[in-house]
Amino acid sequence: MYPIWEVPYLSSALVIGLIASFHVLPSHLAVGALWVTVYIEKLAYSKNRPDYLDFVKRFTLLLLIFSFIFGSLSGIGIWYSATVSSPRGISGLIHNYVWGWATEWVFFLIEIATIYAYYYTFGKVDPKTHIRIGYLYAIAAWISMIIITGILAFMLTPGKWLETGDFFDGFFNPTYFPQLFARTFLMFGIAGIYGLVIASTLKEETKLDLTRIISKTAFVGMILGGLFVIWYAFKLPQTAKELYTGLPYLSKLGKIALVCYLILSLYFLLTGFVVPKLNNFTLSFIFILVAFLGILCAEGIREGLRRPYIINYFMYGHQVIARDLPAKNIKAEIELIQQEGLLPRLGYLPESLRKITPENRLEVGRIIAFHNCANCHSFTPKGVRPLPVLLGKLSPQSPEDIDAFLSALSTFPYMPPFAGNDEERKVAAEYLFTLIKK
Ligand code: HEC
Repeated sequence: MYPIWEVPYLSSALVIGLIASFHVLPSHLAVGALWVTVYIEKLAYSKNRPDYLDFVKRFTLLLLIFSFIFGSLSGIGIWYSATVSSPRGISGLIHNYVWGWATEWVFFLIEIATIYAYYYTFGKVDPKTHIRIGYLYAIAAWISMIIITGILAFMLTPGKWLETGDFFDGFFNPTYFPQLFARTFLMFGIAGIYGLVIASTLKEETKLDLTRIISKTAFVGMILGGLFVIWYAFKLPQTAKELYTGLPYLSKLGKIALVCYLILSLYFLLTGFVVPKLNNFTLSFIFILVAFLGILCAEGIREGLRRPYIINYFMYGHQVIARDLPAKNIKAEIELIQQEGLLPRLGYLPESLRKITPENRLEVGRIIAFHNCANCHSFTPKGVRPLPVLLGKLSPQSPEDIDAFLSALSTFPYMPPFAGNDEERKVAAEYLFTLIKK
């Protein structure tokens, strides 16, 4: 076990969540963008409309800055935050998918090289070559999505991997294809909304033409993407479906995401088929925020459906391995920790905290409680699922009442069993009791 990263108010998991949700915008823009752009570039040549090229140039510059600076930074942000928030979780993923990520990196490198080539060879190479560079980019970007989706989907539905430990059993898991196609089509919606912002900055005639083209593609993408999301929902495991109906906050997120999806689709429908004039900078910019809100909620659901695990059915949110995986020589840890205790596994602790003494009970209790709860709860009275409030609602009369609650933690379908022996659970309960009295 590694030290715990304490994030007041937010909880460490939400830090990853916020960075990762932001990352969806630049990353899906990066994957979806050039299909539309190259198509418009081809139209520019075939219809002899050099004004279309203004769009292509501006849009590519936006892509360079937004996707390849903010997208890359937030991508690294996910790695950093996940590494400190859940080192064993990320380690579990790396031990399975390091070659997957390495492969993805190769295609990412091609993306970077070709997007710069595409932007800086405008008017310097013949149109045919330029379009080919564009396709090279678009294909490499899509392949990176093909690869990364396998690893993302694995975390919720590891499928046969739970028995075999096999790379491809986990990769081509039950929700892989629905999620890949949902992302593939929805990315036209994300690219579309940026496209509309850029188109709105051009002169009227160009703006109207391009608004029509972009909104039509985006609308079709949204509809097909929506259908694949429905397929995805059907493929979810029973436990995830029960969580969705059982946890009110998840269905709330679901409703907000649906409203964002409908508003955005309606906007594309109107600007694409009825009144392209509607497209203006401010409005389209607001719709980027609507898209972001929708993504934030949808990602929140996807993460929430995995409770109480980080890798479904394999590793709990508090980073303890939940089951044997003989194929990889991995053994369940939870029963062992309940017998032998958590403290012997906290090698980072100073000598004075390795054993519970009358003097250090509360301090050790705090550490044990952090290991058990901090990934999902804040310890401050305000914030994400604040423990002082939630525990207070149980109106415990003594630390023993909290101890009884901790013993029964896994009777809640969304919380892992307590990781620690009887003595450790007692001191954690004593510490948690002090939070409420405050
Ligand atoms: C894997 C994530 C996770 C971990 C770890 C976790 N919880 Fe929770 N806990 C939840 C979720 C989700 C809820 C539901 C709250 C909600 O509706 O937002 C919850 C609810 C609660 C509640 C309210 C009970 C209720 O009626 O649902 C209490 C009290 C609580 N947790 C205490 C704890 C304590 C103490 C620990 C550490 C020993 C802990 N939790 C560890 C996810 C977790």
